[in-house]
Amino acid sequence: MWIALLLLGLAVLLLLYARRTRRRNEPPLDKGMIPWLGHALEFGKDAAKFLTRMKQKHGDIFTVRAAGQYITVLLDSNCYDAVLSDVYSLDQTGYAQVLMKRIFSLDLPNHNPESEKKRAEIHFQGRALTQLCNSMQNNLQHLVTPSEMGLKVSEWKKDGLFDFCYSFLFKTGYLTVFGGEKNNSVALAEIYEEFRRFDRLLPKLARTTINKEEKQIASSAREKLWKWLASSRLDRKSEHQSWLGNYVQQLQDEGVDAETQRRAMLLQLWVTQGNAGPTAFWVLGYLLTHPEALRAVREEIQGGKHLREEEGKKNTPVFDSVLSETLRLTAAALITREVKQDKKIRLSNGQEYHLRRGDRLCVFPFISPQMDPQIHQQPEMFQFDRFLNADGTEKKNFFKGEVKVKYPSVPWGTKDNLCPGRHFATSAIKELVFTILTRFDLELCDKNAKLPLVDPSRYGFGILQPAGDLEIRYRIRS
Ligand code: HEM
Repeated sequence: MWIALLLLGLAVLLLLYARRTRRRNEPPLDKGMIPWLGHALEFGKDAAKFLTRMKQKHGDIFTVRAAGQYITVLLDSNCYDAVLSDVYSLDQTGYAQVLMKRIFSLDLPNHNPESEKKRAEIHFQGRALTQLCNSMQNNLQHLVTPSEMGLKVSEWKKDGLFDFCYSFLFKTGYLTVFGGEKNNSVALAEIYEEFRRFDRLLPKLARTTINKEEKQIASSAREKLWKWLASSRLDRKSEHQSWLGNYVQQLQDEGVDAETQRRAMLLQLWVTQGNAGPTAFWVLGYLLTHPEALRAVREEIQGGKHLREEEGKKNTPVFDSVLSETLRLTAAALITREVKQDKKIRLSNGQEYHLRRGDRLCVFPFISPQMDPQIHQQPEMFQFDRFLNADGTEKKNFFKGEVKVKYPSVPWGTKDNLCPGRHFATSAIKELVFTILTRFDLELCDKNAKLPLVDPSRYGFGILQPAGDLEIRYRIRS
């Protein structure tokens, strides 16, 4: 009897959902063929491919159904800031909480991300940023010594470029931001291995498509990382001035228990270390597979040698263009908000649309502006000088037709949600690339090797990761 009633209730619900129709002034509605599920499978498999197809079909705004949820996707980059600035109608905490629970097994219901972001901004700028960057440089220089690498000078070693870059930047970032007792290279390698085990499964955890065996791997990695992170430098009082110490203080002020604080450390480990390493991989990967770009960067480094070290590293328009171009091609975060009340939005062409309460809004800068062929010619190609003017200065002006675009690329998030660690990340990536190019001989094992394709399951989770790797050999220069 109860089961029959339950089934009946479910059927009514399904029917109600299935009956949703497009109202006046709402974006085009595309429910997909499968009841309730809609486009969920295609969306999850390769978000970029799916959303590009939808954009070609419907234009810069449309609503799709995925697993019972209606998601309005906005791809008009000139209005991202204006739309997302309405934090009253568009909530970012609800969905973030869901993901935190799924990925990090973490509940922070009373956490205030707004005040946390403000604090983070303070800790990643000015004098604090200079100190962090100095500490990061020292840590990196220590990690690339022959003794730490377990490598004799001039001895060749083979590796995959992805792991080579990711492990260096992870270890450097970990020592700089987290520190702690586990700071020798064997211990750091162990932390990196567990972090990667977890990081590899992150999209599946987020989409709840993880199988039993993978779930065990992820849980075991999480447990170990929670334990190690708890013993990191957080316990020391002097560190309460640091960003991480401050974050823990905020959690304590909010009454968060010790176990949850421990779990929150892994969230911060991923936020701070999950993107810089993969970016360094793509930068070096593009350089190694584009000799002209590599030559230009090397010449810039050579040209800056007569300057004091700091000045030489500051004025690097060619490298900056290479980094911007790399980020344009690989930064693919999906910015998601819950629509808390019915809302009217205006696209940059003046056309107005209604968003319905209870739906989700997604902005995907990877498709527009970053891969928009009307903004960037041959958008899928790596052009190292795309962000350079003819006179060698930074190119800032980009157009879509006659209209100037606000941002040619949005790797660090939108105006109200900018990554507070962006300057630190840029500095760390640059330091690693310059160190490798000046202190190492580094070459592809196969001179004709191509960059691997991206792993399509990573769309939506920050910097993309490759589906394979590039085999390299390297040695420390004498
Ligand atoms: C290439 C490297 C990086 C990229 C592309 C990147 C990108 C982003 C983006 C797009 C967001 C906003 C996410 C959102 O809207 O929810 C964000 C948030 C953040 N990033 Fe980064 N980031 C990078 C590296 C770093 C580093 C190295 C640090 C610190 C050491 C850092 C610290 C943060 C923090 C604290 C937040 C706020 C997270 C929150 O909302 O709770 N990021 N980052």
